[in-house]
Amino acid sequence: MGDQLFEDAEVSRNYQDYRPNYIGLGLEKEVASFMGITRTLPQNAGTLALDVGCGNGQLTRVLAPLFTKMIGIDRSKSQIDVAIEVTSEENVEYRVNLAEDLSFLQDGTVDLVSAAAATITFTRAIPR
Ligand SMILES: C[S@@+](CC[C@H](N)C(=O)[O-])C[C@H]1O[C@@H](n2cnc3c(N)ncnc32)[C@H](O)[C@@H]1O
Repeated sequence: MGDQLFEDAEVSRNYQDYRPNYIGLGLEKEVASFMGITRTLPQNAGTLALDVGCGNGQLTRVLAPLFTKMIGIDRSKSQIDVAIEVTSEENVEYRVNLAEDLSFLQDGTVDLVSAAAATITFTRAIPR
């Protein structure tokens, strides 16, 4: 039930308007250090990162400069609609997609998976 909280357009709009964001917390520096990424785009960036339960893309956008491509996925279309609306970074792509189904990705292509404040409720087993 909690995982459907964000399916409502008004909730997603309020989330965008009132949720504190990650800007200025230095998360991108922590991730860059952890990943050994010493430069941001367009030079020497990590290849691909996936932000699971991205919501309105708050963390997705903060991490985007570290990667050639950043994909944010969320089960909620209204969250993804807001994310697309507020994102200008050209290397960011969003998808309405369950965390349980990453079949759109090729094996071994993702350098980093992030999940920020996202309690993912798995609705079925992940196929192996
Ligand atoms: C509290 S919000 C966090 C959003 C964003 N990461 C942030 O830090 O602001 C949790 C998000 O996880 C998404 N979510 C929950 N279960 C999911 C699942 N199984 N697959 C994909 N997204 C899911 C919800 O739709 C919601 O947008």
